[in-house]
Amino acid sequence: MKIRILFVCLGNICRSPAAEGILKAMVEEKGLQDDFYIDSAGIGNWHVGDLPDRRMRHHGMLHGYDFASRARQVCSADFERFDLIIVMDDDNYYDIKRFATMPGDMDKVHLIHEYFIRYKGRQYVPDPYYGDDSDFELAINLLEDACQGIIEEVVGR
Ligand code: 4NP
Repeated sequence: MKIRILFVCLGNICRSPAAEGILKAMVEEKGLQDDFYIDSAGIGNWHVGDLPDRRMRHHGMLHGYDFASRARQVCSADFERFDLIIVMDDDNYYDIKRFATMPGDMDKVHLIHEYFIRYKGRQYVPDPYYGDDSDFELAINLLEDACQGIIEEVVGR
């Protein structure tokens, strides 16, 4: 059985598509791609159909990634379709509640900081959208750390 993981941020053009691309690359590198189904979505619908923000694509490329997913909005069916829904900050955690329809839906939702290893102690992945190069770099560093933590947790189960 595949473990199905959905990353969620506000717009689905910066943090969550980067998380999706990083985790996909890491599981492929470990030959675990058949054990995972990985996707991302946004709380808002402003960017539906768009590629990730070009600044995130650029910084991803500097780290050897190709972030090429298309943005979509989160939906109630995602709570059935995924085993684990990982949000980037407390606002995402609060906002995704309005898409939950069944008792237990929110049990699947986890905050990204639960998976930090080197960055243990940080509480969220800051939104780089209104930031500069250093904010995009920080997002990628935090997400690489969390994705390593996710693999360790899931594979260790
Ligand atoms: P993300 O960043 O949640 O990491 O994708 C954002 C992208 C777009 C907007 C907000 C955050 N926006 O307001 O359009």
